[in-house]
Amino acid sequence: VLIGSSPEEVAKIASDNVLAGLAHHSAGAEPVLGLATGSSPLGLYRELSRAVQEGRADFSRAQGFALDEYIGIPDTHEQSYRQTLLNEVCDVIGLSADSLHVPQGMAASVEAIEAAARAYDASIAQAGGIDVQILGIGSNGHLGFNEPGSALRSRTRIKRLAANTREDNARFFDGIEHVPTHCVTQGLGTILDAGRLVLVAVGSGKADAIAAAVEGPISASCPASVLQLHQDAVVVVDEAAAKGL
Ligand code: GLP
Repeated sequence: VLIGSSPEEVAKIASDNVLAGLAHHSAGAEPVLGLATGSSPLGLYRELSRAVQEGRADFSRAQGFALDEYIGIPDTHEQSYRQTLLNEVCDVIGLSADSLHVPQGMAASVEAIEAAARAYDASIAQAGGIDVQILGIGSNGHLGFNEPGSALRSRTRIKRLAANTREDNARFFDGIEHVPTHCVTQGLGTILDAGRLVLVAVGSGKADAIAAAVEGPISASCPASVLQLHQDAVVVVDEAAAKGL
């Protein structure tokens, strides 16, 4: 657990830890970055962009794998996580849109979405696995969209969104009735397969979730507590988010 004195310092520490994690990946192979949406990692993406400008990083040959996607809105919808990541990450750090992989949330049937979710896990493995997975945390302790109750070894699959997650995310839609009810998310087991995890959280609204994740029991009731099972998990927080520790 690394505590920064301001959100800016949190972003810098997180960026240094992402870049150090990528440096471990096998020479010659394309770096593979796991991407999170949400406000928490935005400062980190800005720091990565600065590293690119200063010649300390290059994502032009990297592959990016998103954590999750809504079900039932097209991937061209402005609130889809594909569009969000194109705007907030690809355009910022110079990752090619062709190298951005996002779970498929629209298909003709539930079975087709489930099949695409299995194929998504296979495509991560085919890319050589995720070197560094960037994570935020929900106020209820969710990772990606693994809501409380998610199986600790789960793989990419369909999940129902918790009521409080839909309320948290309603600000991005024209009213809560427009927030999707379901999503496809990397499973907790999928997330644990990454070489390094870098979780970012700022603000007092995340303090309870961080305390439960870092110091509570490993339990499906706080999905982020699976970080305790990972050998290289870095949690970067500001003092407000650390206040329950
Ligand atoms: C969404 C995303 C999560 C993210 C969470 C927290 O629900 N699916 O991956 O961590 O929101 O968002 P924020 O960082 O804006 O608090």
